[in-house]
Amino acid sequence: MKKICSVVGARPQFIKLAVVSRVLRKHFHEVLIHTGQHYDHNMSDVFFEEMDIPRPDYNLGISGGTHGSMTGQMLIALEEVFLKEKPDMVLLFGDTNSTMAAALAAVKLHIPVCHVEAGNRFGTLDSPEEVNRIVTDHMASINLPCTASSMAFLEREGLAQTATVVGDPMYDAFRYYSERLDGSELTDIRDFDGNKVELPDEFYYMTCHRQENTDTDEKLDGIFSAMEALDVPTVYPVHPRNHNRAERLCRERGYRNILLTLPVGYQTSISLVNRAKKIVTDSGGVQREAFFAEKPCVTVLDFVVWPETMKDGCNRLAKPDRQDILNKLNTPVVFDPSYQPFGDGHSAEKIVSIIRNYWEQRGELS
Ligand code: UD1
Ligand code: UDP
Repeated sequence: MKKICSVVGARPQFIKLAVVSRVLRKHFHEVLIHTGQHYDHNMSDVFFEEMDIPRPDYNLGISGGTHGSMTGQMLIALEEVFLKEKPDMVLLFGDTNSTMAAALAAVKLHIPVCHVEAGNRFGTLDSPEEVNRIVTDHMASINLPCTASSMAFLEREGLAQTATVVGDPMYDAFRYYSERLDGSELTDIRDFDGNKVELPDEFYYMTCHRQENTDTDEKLDGIFSAMEALDVPTVYPVHPRNHNRAERLCRERGYRNILLTLPVGYQTSISLVNRAKKIVTDSGGVQREAFFAEKPCVTVLDFVVWPETMKDGCNRLAKPDRQDILNKLNTPVVFDPSYQPFGDGHSAEKIVSIIRNYWEQRGELS
């Protein structure tokens, strides 16, 4: 049986892995490597537990520091694991430092790389995720974009021969887990002191963690002042990156309409998406989930991450600015349920079948 090393490190990758790994293990020997990039219980273990992801075979314990230092340490440690495990392929997801480090380590050892969620381009190398994704796509033997627009970027960069559109594993996960929600997932949301949060009947759901928005008071407060001005409260699970800044800003400015919480598990998060009035986010995952749930979304970024979600204004870009966010939130939106650009909820099966084909074509699959 062929051996595949799957490498993950950050929250959104655990979610994608959960749906792909379930199918992958029927056909391949999967060795799971967690780089350690995300490590708090509510940023890592909670996903493995609630989504039945097998325990990682390795946890490299590498996190924090500068991009270069984190990526460099991962490169060294991943090379050691690949040399020991001798995988037939390395399977990667998305655009984190863990993804890029693994792509470089693998390609230098002549191990083929398969990249799930390839192809998105934002048009700026100022975004660390853009750099990670470009490098990984160009190192990969198999690129698996989620959508036609991501495929078009790969074609423009001469990577069409490596690429097939498979749909979005985040959509697979959203469909699968949305059917299993019963409300109990909303009963254990905790504030920063660890106390249970009583959910209001109506609320906005916000997530905001990108360095572009959270590394200065000015930008984060531009977003907070918009949420404070809204008709109903905002539920905001805060990424550890900006826990302290969010807590201090809300205290200093006396904001009462923003419910800061600790990060929540996946099912809690999609349940909040499903029940929210509208969504404000800078997350690649949450803006798609808003689209899947047909909730109007405002994405606080300078660049488009998922153009499909922008059709008919379902998702609108805003600056981290009170008035801009409020204007965009107040613009009416109508969803077209017949427009389904993220596949049919079975991308994991397609991903595994393309990996099988890769070896079948070479006459190497026993
Ligand atoms: C990373 C990804 C980003 C993705 C996000 C998902 C890169 C370049 N960025 O950003 O694409 O959207 O994950 O959430 O890889 N921290 C903790 N506890 C944790 C995790 C992080 O305290 O469990 C701290 C780290 O020590 C660090 C900061 O949060 O100081 C940022 O973490 P890092 O992994 O560098 O980047 P993310 O913002 O999480
Ligand atoms: N998410 C979660 N708990 C939270 C915030 C987000 O489970 O407290 C989920 C969210 O529903 C989505 C995924 O995490 O499925 C997105 O991850 P994140 O925003 O960290 O990364 P990105 O998608 O921007 O790379």
